[in-house]
Amino acid sequence: MSKKLTLGLFGFGVVGQGLYDIIRTKDLNLEIKKIAIKNPEKKRTLPEELFTTDGELILNDPEINTVVELINDAEAAYYIVTTALKNGKNVVSANKKLIANHLEELVELQQKHNVSFLYEGAVCGSIPIIRNLEEYYDNELLYSLRGIFNGSSNFILSKIFNENLSYGTALKQAQDLGFAETDPILDVGGYDPKFKLVIASAHAYGLLADPEKVLNIGIQNLGDQDIQFAREKDFKIKLVPTALEFGEQKIVLYVLPKLVKQDDFLYNVENEYNGVIVQAAFADQQFFFGKGAGGHPTGSAVLSDIAALRYDYRYEYKKYHQKKSLELSSDYSLHIYLRYSDDQLIEKLGFEEVTERYFSPKFNYVIGKISLSKLAEQKDLLTQAGVFIAEIGNISPVTHEIGVSEEHLELESSKALTHLAL
Ligand code: HSE
Repeated sequence: MSKKLTLGLFGFGVVGQGLYDIIRTKDLNLEIKKIAIKNPEKKRTLPEELFTTDGELILNDPEINTVVELINDAEAAYYIVTTALKNGKNVVSANKKLIANHLEELVELQQKHNVSFLYEGAVCGSIPIIRNLEEYYDNELLYSLRGIFNGSSNFILSKIFNENLSYGTALKQAQDLGFAETDPILDVGGYDPKFKLVIASAHAYGLLADPEKVLNIGIQNLGDQDIQFAREKDFKIKLVPTALEFGEQKIVLYVLPKLVKQDDFLYNVENEYNGVIVQAAFADQQFFFGKGAGGHPTGSAVLSDIAALRYDYRYEYKKYHQKKSLELSSDYSLHIYLRYSDDQLIEKLGFEEVTERYFSPKFNYVIGKISLSKLAEQKDLLTQAGVFIAEIGNISPVTHEIGVSEEHLELESSKALTHLAL
């Protein structure tokens, strides 16, 4: 017989409501005793006595053995989650920012207080990636993990590419559908997928990386020329977090837009769907696909965690406790496409190789190889208006199709290095 769970829920927004809708349809051995909310004025579909604005009622209630934290304020969530764990309650959370920023402490608190903290809903919504990394791949050597970890930015990119919607209209739709964070720069700027990448890497490699040390550049500066460039070369643009092991025990983590071709699993991941590609030594390549945002998909992952608590499930952080001497490194080179307006940026970046340069009065780009550490050093310049950067795979040979002055080309081509196949 499974353990009876008495729940205290924090937050009743898109995910909280989604979770409630699903719980209602099930006959699980659990009861929601109280729901803490911020705004008592908001109209609710449930009896008023279920709600409170005093979270302490939940945190200090000895009958409540499980706290479910689904608010979007990471600082308030930190207090709720750490207090609940210290008070001996199991906790389920979908707050990626809180988890990524405090994972080491949260792992310790679980051990110290002999409680469980689960967060499948925090990474890629409905895709069961954390438990798979934790359980299924516990003895697998993982080379890389990459994918689409943010539903909102993928939704925006799909609407732009497939329906010719403007960036602003697509963002508004993502917000109206409840996919976007309160501050959407977290989505489009690549912060949200970075937090998810950091959490996934803890389970994939046992590396608890500081998000501050992981480069994230998003799609906020995507322009018409980038879209045209991608279309002409049969690419789609996706926002892709990547984790990979290289060299001697080194792990590289970054989030960048990526130009992907049709042979990439991610090419057909559209709208709020997410995808995760795991490259493992023995299992080889595997692809997980599912909805990454929205009340019901995320609610289903949260419910799966709650259900697992009935059987005392907890993450063991096996790879972390093995204490392999893994090191986060930026000493890694990438092929990139960079649209820019100021030549000084190119000089500052110091490309290792330039494969292609294009100049015209309105559109300049360079394709080449560059180290991740250089990109990280120049993050401020790379996120300013007029600049768009994307990782790039194989491309067809250069065709200067867009109107370009021959004189300008001749002058500038002397600066460009030899063409190299990517
Ligand atoms: N804002 C997030 C996204 C919600 O768009 O993916 C799910 O974590």
